Amino acid sequence: MKKSFILLASAALVVGCATADKQGPKNTINQEEVMSKLTLEDKAHFVIGTGMAGFSGNDAVIGATRSLVPGAAGTTYPLDTLGIPAVVLADGPAGLRIDAKRQGDSATYYCTHFPIGTLLASTWNTQLIEQVGQAIGEEVKEYGADVLLAPALNIMRNPLCGRNFEYYSEDPVVAGKSAAAYITGVQKNDVGTSIKHFAANNQETNRMNNDAHISQRALREIYLKGFEIAIKESAPWTVMTSYNYINGVYTSESKDLVTTILRDEWGYQGTVMTDWFGGKDGAKQMWAGNDMLQPGKAEQFDSIVAGVKSGKLAEADLDRSVQRILNLVEKSPRYQGYKYSNKPDLKAHAAVTRQSAAEGMVLMKNNQALPFAKNIKNVALYGNTSYDFIAGGTGSGNVNHAYVVSLLDGLKNGGYTVSDELKNAYTTYAADCKKAIEAEIEAAAKKDPKNAMLLRFMPRPLPAEKQFSADELTKQAETADVAVITLGRISGEFMDRKAADFNLSDSERQLLQQVCDVYHKAGKQVVVLLNIGGVIETASWKDLPDAILCAWQAGQEGGNSVVDVLSGKQSPSGKFTMTWPVKFTDAYSSKNFPIDQDPKIDMTNQGQKGNVKNVDYTDYEEDIYVGYRYFDSFDVPVSYPFGYGLSYTTFEYSDAKIAEKGDAYEISVTIKNTGKQEGKEVVELYISAPDNKAANKPAKELKAYAKTKLLAPDETETVTMTVKAADLASFDEAASAWVVAAGEYQFLVGASAQDIKATLKANAKTQQTKVNNVMKPQVQMNLLSR
Ligand code: BGC
Repeated sequence: MKKSFILLASAALVVGCATADKQGPKNTINQEEVMSKLTLEDKAHFVIGTGMAGFSGNDAVIGATRSLVPGAAGTTYPLDTLGIPAVVLADGPAGLRIDAKRQGDSATYYCTHFPIGTLLASTWNTQLIEQVGQAIGEEVKEYGADVLLAPALNIMRNPLCGRNFEYYSEDPVVAGKSAAAYITGVQKNDVGTSIKHFAANNQETNRMNNDAHISQRALREIYLKGFEIAIKESAPWTVMTSYNYINGVYTSESKDLVTTILRDEWGYQGTVMTDWFGGKDGAKQMWAGNDMLQPGKAEQFDSIVAGVKSGKLAEADLDRSVQRILNLVEKSPRYQGYKYSNKPDLKAHAAVTRQSAAEGMVLMKNNQALPFAKNIKNVALYGNTSYDFIAGGTGSGNVNHAYVVSLLDGLKNGGYTVSDELKNAYTTYAADCKKAIEAEIEAAAKKDPKNAMLLRFMPRPLPAEKQFSADELTKQAETADVAVITLGRISGEFMDRKAADFNLSDSERQLLQQVCDVYHKAGKQVVVLLNIGGVIETASWKDLPDAILCAWQAGQEGGNSVVDVLSGKQSPSGKFTMTWPVKFTDAYSSKNFPIDQDPKIDMTNQGQKGNVKNVDYTDYEEDIYVGYRYFDSFDVPVSYPFGYGLSYTTFEYSDAKIAEKGDAYEISVTIKNTGKQEGKEVVELYISAPDNKAANKPAKELKAYAKTKLLAPDETETVTMTVKAADLASFDEAASAWVVAAGEYQFLVGASAQDIKATLKANAKTQQTKVNNVMKPQVQMNLLSR
C-alpha cells in the first residue's frame, strides 16, 4: 500500500470550530475544507482501515494506531495534518474486547464479560438490555474506544450455527427489539455501535465465500426485518456488512442492500463498514455505498484508485463515503477530546452482569426441586463446567475478563457447602485433560505452521465427563442434600457446531443416568444446569432429573447468577427465543445446512467461489419457515417451544382485550401472580392471518411482547402491547410490496408459542406498501410452502 503524504496547511485550518450545545462545546469538522485538501490517494486511504497486524502487510500504519487501544479490532485512517484522528473500533457483543495487559505497564485493562446475546434476549426485557448496553458503553468510552462492534443480530436459522450464542433469536421481532435496546444503551455514552452482520451470516462454514440463496420474501420477512426494526428504532452509528454473498452478490458489494434498502427505504444516515476482510472488489464496495473497508488491504486501495481513474467508480461516490466517515469521526469521543480514565466502574458492572444473567436464565423443568428448600446445605457438584464455568463463546465475541465465578464459588458465596473430595477429584481431572488437549493443539500447530495461529484461537474441545463408580456415587449421596450436574458447550467464530455438539456424549449420558439412579434411590433430587451457547438435545433425557435450568453462558458472574436462581433469591423469568427441536434434523433448515463439514476457513478472503452445496452455496429452502414458524405450521413436535420458560410462581391471564386505535391495535391483558413466590411474566402476542394455510403464511407470528414488573403473590398488572396495522403485512414478491390481506386476524396472547391463553379477533383492511424489486435469487429453489 502506498504511503499517504498529505502536505497541507495546519490542522487548525480545517478542524473547524467548537459550538456550544446542551452537552457543552462540540468540535466540528469543516468538511468542505477537508474535502478540498484531499488527494484521490488520501481518500482511498481514508475509506480503508489501518490494517491488521500479520494480515494486511500494512504494519507501518498499524504501528501508529495500534497503541491507541491495544487489542481493539481496528481503527479508521488518521489524517494527522488535517487534525482528523484515527478512531478506535473494538468488539464485541458480550463486552468490550481489548487486551487486558500492555507491555511495560503494570496496570490492567480488564473488561466486564457480560452475558451472551442469547441470554440477554431470553430476558425479553428491553429495559434491562438497555441497562446492560449502557454499562458496556461506559467501558467503551472509559477505555478510549469509539465504536463497539456490536450487537450481532443474525437470525438463528439452524441450531448448529457456531455463532448463535452472539445472536438473539430465530424471530426477527425479538432480535430487532433486543438489538435496538442494546444500541440505545451503548450509545447513551456518546460512543457508537456497529449492528452486524448485515445480512444473512447464518453459518460459519466457508463464511467468506458462501452464497446464501434466499427468496425475496424470506429476506424481507425474516433476515432483514430485525435489522429494519433496530435501525429505525435506535439509529446505530454504523452498520457492518456480512461476509457472505446473498443471491450471487457480496453483501458489501450490493448496492441493492446497502443503498436501496438500507438508506433509501429505511432512511439510514450512518456509516457502513465491512466485516474484517469482507468482500473482494474495493471499487465495487464504494460504488455500493459500503463506506469503509476494514481492516484494509493493499489491493482494496489499488482497486479504488484504479476504479476512479478508469471511471468505473465515480469520485463523487468515494467522496460521499469519505464524508460519512468524517461524520463518524466527528461524533467520536476521540475527536471530541474526551479524556478517558481507563477506569470504568467494573464493580458496578459486575452487579449489572450478575443481575441481568439471572433474569435471562430459563427454567425448563421443575418437579419441586427449585428453589432449594431451606434444609438444602450440601451440594454434590458434578460436571466439568461446574468447576470451570463458561462465561461466553470464543472469537471476536469473547471478552478479556479478570475472573469467572464458577458454580463452585457461586455456591460457596451463597452459603452452601460443596464436597472437597469431589472438588479435588475434578480439579486433578481437569488439569490432566487440559494438559493433554493443549499438547494436542501444540502438536497440530507445529505440524501445520500456516494454520498455527488459527488452531490456537479456536475453542478448546471440552474434556469427556468424569465417571464415578456406583459405590463412589452412593457414598457421595450420603452426605449431600442434592446433586447438581452441569453440562457445558462452547463454540465460536469460523466453525459451526457439529452434530455431536448438539447431542449428548456417551460420558454425559452415563453421568446423568448414574447420578440420577443413585441419588433418586437415596431419596435425593438432581438438578441439571445447562452452561451452553446454543440449543442441545434434551428430549431423550429430560425425564431423568428433577429440574433443568438453562443458565446459558452467563458472563463473568455466572456462578453467582446461577446461585441467585437456585437459592430463590431471584425467580427465573427467562423464556426461550428459539425452538428446542427433538433432533436438530427436525429443523427444516437442516436439509440445507453444512452438517459436520470441513469448516473451510479463509481468514483474508483469498478463496474462489466453488460449487459444493451448503459450503459454497446454501439454498434457504425452508423459506420463511424458520423456527416456530415451521414447527407450529407443520405440526412437528418439539422438545421445548419458542417462548417457553417456567417460573417459581404461577400466573393467571385474564381480561384480554383488543381495541383499534387509529392505524394500530392495542392489546391488553391482566396478569396475576397466583403462586406463593414473587416473579415476572413474559407475555407474548402472536397474530394468525386469515386463511393462513391457503395463503402460505405461518400459523402464527410474534408481533409484540411485554414483561410484567416483579409481581408479589396475588399482585396483578395489566400489560399493553401495540401492533400497527401495517405490521400485519406479508411480503408479496409479485407485487414487490408489503401487503395486508383484508379479513379477520386472530391476536393470540400466549405464555409461549404453544401455550395460548387468549384469542382475540379484529378485522383489517387491505393495504399495500411498495418497495424496490431487488435482491432476487438467480437460481431455482424448491421452497417449502404450506
Ligand atoms: C467478525 C466480526 C468482528 C470482526 C472484528 C470478524 O471476524 O466476524 O464480528 O467484529 O471480526 O474483530
